Amino acid sequence: MKIFLDTANLESIRKFNDMGLLDGITTNPSLMSKEGGNPKDAMEEITKIIKGDVSLEVVSTEYSGMMEEGKRLRQYGENVVVKVPMTPDGLKACKSLSFEGIPVNVTLIFSANQALLAAKSGAKYVSPFIGRLDDVGQNGMELIKEIKEIFDHYDYIKTQILVASVRHPLHVIDAAKIGADVVTLPPAVLDKMLQHPLTKIGLENFLADWDKLKSGNPDIEI
Ligand code: E4P
Repeated sequence: MKIFLDTANLESIRKFNDMGLLDGITTNPSLMSKEGGNPKDAMEEITKIIKGDVSLEVVSTEYSGMMEEGKRLRQYGENVVVKVPMTPDGLKACKSLSFEGIPVNVTLIFSANQALLAAKSGAKYVSPFIGRLDDVGQNGMELIKEIKEIFDHYDYIKTQILVASVRHPLHVIDAAKIGADVVTLPPAVLDKMLQHPLTKIGLENFLADWDKLKSGNPDIEI
């Protein structure tokens, strides 16, 4: 399963990319707004840091605006995937951009029907928002299972399931068990996945024992 980071924060992107963990990045207007400054600078920088797919989202709501913005966003790099909302105009833009060779991520997916239609429109990715479904009392992971089951029936569907709105590490394990193609993670979730209390205690004990050995013989070194 590929791991994308769901952020426009350059420091986090560099940090996890340096560990070799990132296959791509997803952003959205809220994440851009959170960082402040000129989003163009962030977009340009992210596409340079990351080799894999970088989703950059349009803010127009009608077809021609989405097409113009999509083409402008694509100029930031060959790895740009244009993110469009799951609306009739969004699907029309998805079809046209995909036809022109520009990959599209259809976002704000909340049902299997929406995922099926986005796939029909030629989307490279569909982004079901599982955390936001959980928030309203619907099981987000059940939606991932449903979409996966449907897509697996049809060889012609090449669209990848990008699990979005992830809130905690258990979401990641469940997505991987189902066989989702990609998860996009907030930096805080990726940080939690790295840690385990026994790792911390184990390392502290190793270092304390090494210090004991060294106290008897200060000249030893690795
Ligand atoms: C996906 O690409 C979105 O940017 C994101 O996962 C939305 O998550 P949220 O529900 O935490 O805002």
